[in-house]
Amino acid sequence: MKKFNSYITTKGLFGMGMNDPSIIKNEPMFFNSDLDFAYSKGGMITKSFIDNLPNDWRHGEVVFDSRVHMLMPGWYPCIPGYHHDDIPRSTDSGQPNYNNPEYHSEHILGLINGQICPTKFAIGECEVSFPVNDDVIYKVWHDEIKDHIKNGKLTEIDAPSNLLIYFDCDTFHSGDKAVGNEWRWFGRVSRNTDRVKSITNEIRNQVQVYLEFPTQGW
Ligand SMILES: [Fe+2]
Repeated sequence: MKKFNSYITTKGLFGMGMNDPSIIKNEPMFFNSDLDFAYSKGGMITKSFIDNLPNDWRHGEVVFDSRVHMLMPGWYPCIPGYHHDDIPRSTDSGQPNYNNPEYHSEHILGLINGQICPTKFAIGECEVSFPVNDDVIYKVWHDEIKDHIKNGKLTEIDAPSNLLIYFDCDTFHSGDKAVGNEWRWFGRVSRNTDRVKSITNEIRNQVQVYLEFPTQGW
């Protein structure tokens, strides 16, 4: 078995009053960006997210990603299922390396209009089975985390909007499906990760959604 302390802490507010569709949909999306690039090219939400980061993050070696989605009920803005962010995949199988990871990443996430499709966190201490061979580990752990939530070992909470939420590579979280029609902004800054060594400052012009039942008509 493997033990995790899955927790979040809050680091303040951002983007207050910026949930109007005209603001969200005009926000550029960044991938693998440093903060100077995102600040110079970003809209008011990106700038507010960066302005409100703790000083050591604002001026530290970090990497920033953001996404803007127009969601409808049942659509997922990310692959769903409980997982950890940015565990090095330095294994022969390409699965996350939980034996001797080269780094322990930390993250701050923020959502605008997150209520339409909140990131879910599983909070508490828990044990899950240790990855063996070529286990697709998050497929195994998703079910174990849902069981821990059912039996009260972990508490599932929705990420509130407009809040800077700190978590690390031990924090189990999952995307979920949208429950209404709305624009949504997601941003995340990460540190203590190899990604900071290969910043590419990309602006993304496309974003995808994931469907549970893609053939139900429209
Ligand atoms: Fe994630």
